[in-house]
Amino acid sequence: MTTFKWGMIGGGEGSQIGPAHRLGALADGRFEFAAGALDHRPDVGRAYAQRLGIAADRAYGDWTEMLAGESDRDDRIDLVTIATPNATHFEITKSFLEAGFNVLCEKPMTMTVEEGEEIVKIAKASGKICAVNYCYSAYPMVRQARAMVRAGEIGKVRLVVTNFSHGHHGDATDADNPRVRWRYDPAMAGVSGQFADCGIHALHMASFIADDEVERLSADFASTISSRELEDDAMVNFRMMGGTVGRLWTSSVAIGRQHGFDIQVFGETGGLRWASEQPNQLIYTPVGGRTQVIEKGEAGLCEDAQRLSRVAIAHPEGFPLAVANIYCDLADAIAGEARDGLPDAAAGVRSMAAVYTAVASAKDGGVWLDARPPMFR
Ligand code: NAI
Repeated sequence: MTTFKWGMIGGGEGSQIGPAHRLGALADGRFEFAAGALDHRPDVGRAYAQRLGIAADRAYGDWTEMLAGESDRDDRIDLVTIATPNATHFEITKSFLEAGFNVLCEKPMTMTVEEGEEIVKIAKASGKICAVNYCYSAYPMVRQARAMVRAGEIGKVRLVVTNFSHGHHGDATDADNPRVRWRYDPAMAGVSGQFADCGIHALHMASFIADDEVERLSADFASTISSRELEDDAMVNFRMMGGTVGRLWTSSVAIGRQHGFDIQVFGETGGLRWASEQPNQLIYTPVGGRTQVIEKGEAGLCEDAQRLSRVAIAHPEGFPLAVANIYCDLADAIAGEARDGLPDAAAGVRSMAAVYTAVASAKDGGVWLDARPPMFR
């Protein structure tokens, strides 16, 4: 088994998502941490990278330096992860793809649909992998749910209901905290707040498990804390290409909910339910039958659920190992064995199109609009 060389941009000390990437990338011996430009402050980034074991000549001050340095090496990195704030994703992803690197980009992949379409085209032209970190789709029991839908175990999917709602921005007295405020400021966050931050995870999950794409949607956005320009709560109704009805609620003011991401998929002959706070269990009910708890690690699971589960039954397998599953699929893809579940740039641009469509719909009283990127219409 080849160990690939991996580099990271962003995800510096104290960042939210950086540790999950390092734990994930290094969990299975498929990657070694070879290069990084980890912080927006060059000296801080260089020092932290070296503390994490990166050689001094590959502990870069910024991503342009890293691009130049890695491009010139015979032992250049095989994969770069981009875990910087959203507005930088497009430029960095584009530059690394064009220079012939495989990329894992954090969500949202870009700030606009046009940029997203450009990334899809550049990735295709370069022949390189451009994955987007919709990491919830890599939990073993989410892969199991998708496999069951594909195998017809719940029949044709009629309805998907999902929500991703927390209450961590629900304190109005904390609304001016700089770490919170930027998320609702269009100059920093773009056209959407909560829907672009968490809602797109839920929407991607709906497409992933139902094995279908969103075709049109109608949205209702609210800024429940009135000083916020962007929405902190959204309800989005959607229809998928195959006719499936979708309902999505996302909120950051749902005080008491910690990480309320769950999904229910209702088919003609059964229903499935999965929740990120109990990720080892998939709840299955056949029509007219008893509700069953399917456990990660038990016999008879799909190949993906078995492959991506590495601790024994009943041992909790959480978020960093879901990210690790993305890296396993990436390592296989780099080695030439494409993995069907790996979220790609097409998924990234579909999310951006859904965000812009939801914003337009919400502004126009919830009118139904085509939610597909122009390139996929
Ligand atoms: P954060 O603000 O906690 O950390 C950002 C890090 O990037 C910091 O270390 C900062 O110094 C560094 N940075 C900023 N600009 C940089 C630049 N130009 N070059 C190098 N480093 C730079 O942000 P957080 O929450 O970790 O989010 C980062 C990205 O990850 C966002 O796009 C966010 O949407 C995404 N994210 C994804 C999650 C998921 O479930 N897939 C969960 C949380 C965040």
